[in-house]
Amino acid sequence: MAIPFIDLKSQYAALKADIDGRIAAVLDHGAYVMGPEISQLETELAEFAGAKHAIAVSSGTDALLLALMAEDIGPGDAVFVPTFTFAATAGAVRLAGATPVFTDVDPVTCNMDPDDLATRIDQVVAQGTLKPRAIITVDLFGLPADYAAIDVIAEHNGLFVIDDGAQGFGAAVGDRRVGTLAPVTATSFFPAKPLGCYGDGGAVFTNDPDRLDRFKSIRVHGFGGDRNEIVRIGLNARMDTIQAAVLLAKLSVFETELAARDSLATLYDDRLGDVVQLPGRSPGTTSAWAQYTIQVEHRQAVQERLKADGFPTAVYYAIPTHLQPAYQAFGDGPGSLPNSERLAGRVLSLPMHPYMDEATAEQICDSLTRAVNQGR
Ligand SMILES: Cc1ncc(COP(=O)(O)O)c(C=O)c1O
Repeated sequence: MAIPFIDLKSQYAALKADIDGRIAAVLDHGAYVMGPEISQLETELAEFAGAKHAIAVSSGTDALLLALMAEDIGPGDAVFVPTFTFAATAGAVRLAGATPVFTDVDPVTCNMDPDDLATRIDQVVAQGTLKPRAIITVDLFGLPADYAAIDVIAEHNGLFVIDDGAQGFGAAVGDRRVGTLAPVTATSFFPAKPLGCYGDGGAVFTNDPDRLDRFKSIRVHGFGGDRNEIVRIGLNARMDTIQAAVLLAKLSVFETELAARDSLATLYDDRLGDVVQLPGRSPGTTSAWAQYTIQVEHRQAVQERLKADGFPTAVYYAIPTHLQPAYQAFGDGPGSLPNSERLAGRVLSLPMHPYMDEATAEQICDSLTRAVNQGR
């Protein structure tokens, strides 16, 4: 029998009493939109991340859009994004009316390559048609981007940094957690994320009270302090109260789950180092292990052999954003971002969740070792 790629059923079984009780409480009090669980979640999320403020929103995509809108980023503005990520990163830039400028990624960490970023910024400045405004970093697969290098480039060029922490919530650089690595962080609580709800959800983090006010206004149609007054163009980007209730239950065990993810990643590392290229790690940095992504030759054959043994895998991402039909107009086509294009043919994500027992993890490693050796 095949194992699940992410085992949300075991997680629910472990947390059932708490989750059911919190959902029942929402059904009882009836504040389905902006109920008390929303502000409780915001307080607990901010505390967890070590940020001053968090606001709960409807999805990770809306979190990014809201972050861009709050900076008045729009038509004529260039926003630098890695191409090797989920399409929502560049999608939010387009939804705001700005232009995504794609950068390549590091071939080991799969995160934004600072040198390539600096080159792309110089190119946009030299062309003179777009105004460079912001960089959206992505903590791909849960590993924080190279903020030390990116911050220097951002400062030098007067650019605002937004962390797309959709996959990174729970990770840290030293003792600074995702939520505090950039002036604004957007995250996602899509069910498959390290901290996931039972539908769509997201959050935005900042230490700046003025930004928080703008986020709150944009989240609900652009209202001002007075509910009769619309002071800006806004969204309907509220999180449902029931999703906040689910997240409160899951947040209470998130620390333990992160440790379990890290143990699984260490087991994989120990067993697979001689077999495949392991996920990149950065010194002093912990990953939230949204995905455990290796690099292999003959990926499809390896994937099929693992599947035959009952072990599902996934490919994130088979096509870098600049080669996606909807985004080709913003890039320079095949060959323009070579590390990302090469990764797209090699990456393979293994089952990763906090409820996997060690015996199953060992069997996955055995199966992968056989699969790779057969292909040699
Ligand atoms: C890197 C990245 N950015 C943005 C998003 C968008 O989040 P959501 O699906 O909650 O809109 C996701 C997740 O799907 C993601 O992985």
